[in-house]
Amino acid sequence: MSKSTPLEATVMVIFGGGGDLSRRKLLPALYNLLLDGYLPEHFAIVAVARKKIDHKDFLARIREGVDQFSRRPVFDEALWERFTETFSYVSEDLADPASGTVLSEHLREIESKWGRRGNRLYYLAIPPATMELAAKMLQRLGVCRDCGRDRLVVEKPFGRDLSSARELNLFLSSMFVEPQIYRIDHYLGKETVQNILAFRFANSLFEPVWDRRYVDHVQITVAETVGVEERGEYYDRAGSLRDMVQNHLLQILCLVAMEPPISFDADEIRNKKVDVLRAIRPVRTEEIHRVAVRGQYRKGAVQGIPAIGYRQEHNVSDVSTTETYAAFTFHIDNWRWQGVPFYLRTGKRLQSKVSEVSIIFRSPPHQFFPSAAVESWQPNRIVIRIQPEEGIDTRIQVKQPGTRLLLGAADMQFRYREAFKASAPEAYETLLLDAIRGDATLFMRADQVESAWQVVTPILEAWEAVPPADFPDYPAGSWGPEAADMMLARNGHSWLQPTGLEEP
Ligand code: BG6
Repeated sequence: MSKSTPLEATVMVIFGGGGDLSRRKLLPALYNLLLDGYLPEHFAIVAVARKKIDHKDFLARIREGVDQFSRRPVFDEALWERFTETFSYVSEDLADPASGTVLSEHLREIESKWGRRGNRLYYLAIPPATMELAAKMLQRLGVCRDCGRDRLVVEKPFGRDLSSARELNLFLSSMFVEPQIYRIDHYLGKETVQNILAFRFANSLFEPVWDRRYVDHVQITVAETVGVEERGEYYDRAGSLRDMVQNHLLQILCLVAMEPPISFDADEIRNKKVDVLRAIRPVRTEEIHRVAVRGQYRKGAVQGIPAIGYRQEHNVSDVSTTETYAAFTFHIDNWRWQGVPFYLRTGKRLQSKVSEVSIIFRSPPHQFFPSAAVESWQPNRIVIRIQPEEGIDTRIQVKQPGTRLLLGAADMQFRYREAFKASAPEAYETLLLDAIRGDATLFMRADQVESAWQVVTPILEAWEAVPPADFPDYPAGSWGPEAADMMLARNGHSWLQPTGLEEP
């Protein structure tokens, strides 16, 4: 993140400002941006929510959130005071057709104090149905008309399937122009996810082997140890495919598989990503059972701590058929990737929290070593560790020390925390600052979201048409259902044990 260009005066209006996302992610991120001196000189945060809350109580709640979730808690009262000065809370009932007058008056007051019209960033951290109400209100109030200055940040879920995402895009585009709409996917703000682009295209070492001639297959794992926590109501209607695959996993896949962009222009990069999504081979209904696996956790123990089953979670139906685990085999039908399987998996209540991308290379074309030498031979692989232990491991074969020629595997390791001393910003810090600056590179364009829905919607529909017979089918604390192992085994592959968790 660079501070070179001074930023314009900005007011950020958070719809859903009293909610969990705001408390856990958005406000801690803004607080860290303030600490690092990234916020504009004139900056205001306006939280909008239906409930009337006393200003003092609200500040106490934010402070609690920052202390608990920020990478740096409050350590200096004067700085905290400066942060709270940017802050105000407005109560609006979006369902009321006359709503918005308090907000627009408040915006006018802030800007008249500054003596100038600021940029306005409206952050929609609310469910899709309410998003429409908020967007309508902004249009009615006329506070979002300047295409160059006014922006809308839209949180996920962006629709429930292809047709609802299209409807939402159509609705938003009837009021705002596309460059005003910033659809957020917080994975794109993670340092290590952005580093995929740097690793691939800033090094001439790897790109020449990054294709079907050298790569055998690719694995993308995003595993979580948490269950659904307080989000049962949302999650039970969403499931893993909508919650994680349609957005985070497919975005990672795009970065791994895209062609080299010709410039760092936001649209150029997004065009290259959309090309990947459009090239994913559509899954036919009759083959879904071979290329898609769903699962749901039952009770078990995660890292030694007993965990209840999904159906026993708060606000979850006790006969729920919602998947908490999903795994897929995708093929990308283009020149670079023809014939290379991309395996994706994600799940809740798995053994460890780990996200990584593994590129597994083909065997050398000719193996001339004596058979005893290659007994423990393993293919080369590059593991991009998104979290935790952020970094990259490159596995090579070397001669083991000794008088005989025996090959053994060794890892060349890069770790962010060892190579760089500075602590990395959280994903939301990067993304919020980009939105304040007006840089949309890391946000999703309408066609990107729709193309991602296009990939997953046939699977969603097939799953909804035939409820699973065997749920819950994996114990909390395991690596998911056996069917996911079988899916790879049919191709002679197996899931790699995430690095750091490997058997010695
Ligand atoms: C969110 C999902 O988008 O990502 C959550 O809605 C999930 O269900 C979270 O837990 C995971 O994010 P992270 O950054 O913790 O990997």
